Amino acid sequence: MAEAKRTKKADLARIDRVIANYRAQRWSLIPLLHEIQGMLGYIPTEAIPRLAKGLGLFPSQVQGVITFYTQFYTAPRGKNIVRVCRGTACHVRGGKTILKLVKRHLGIEEGENTPDLEYTLETVACIGVCALAPNIVVNRNTYGHMNPKKVARLFSKKDEA
Ligand code: FES
Repeated sequence: MAEAKRTKKADLARIDRVIANYRAQRWSLIPLLHEIQGMLGYIPTEAIPRLAKGLGLFPSQVQGVITFYTQFYTAPRGKNIVRVCRGTACHVRGGKTILKLVKRHLGIEEGENTPDLEYTLETVACIGVCALAPNIVVNRNTYGHMNPKKVARLFSKKDEA
């Protein structure tokens, strides 16, 4: 996973202002986490003790909730989330090669972000459209029957940058 950058003072101040709106309202942890993640794209680890103090919880309780729900992230993520399917149908139809090509185009490994935070690369077990294997999902768009040419076309803008 990509290294979490040190959170800027300005972002921590924004977090403190959001927490102040929910002071001591323990029930509000999840909406608050959503608000912080919506604001910064992730929940900085420095926010955990602040949240705990503001809501009257233990830091371990805040950490536990963040860990439990997979939609919360504690490290920055790219603007575009690329998911390459590693399910059986995609695997037997060349998914491994597709993943290798995507890694090469983006210059990152699974679980990493591009340095410009344009892309995050992940793999998934099966996205449920095995008939179109091998598949890639970029944000909410699914790209089926992937091949080296299609991968190159999909990431051509990235290569031009
Ligand atoms: S295995 Fe890839 S979509 Fe099902």
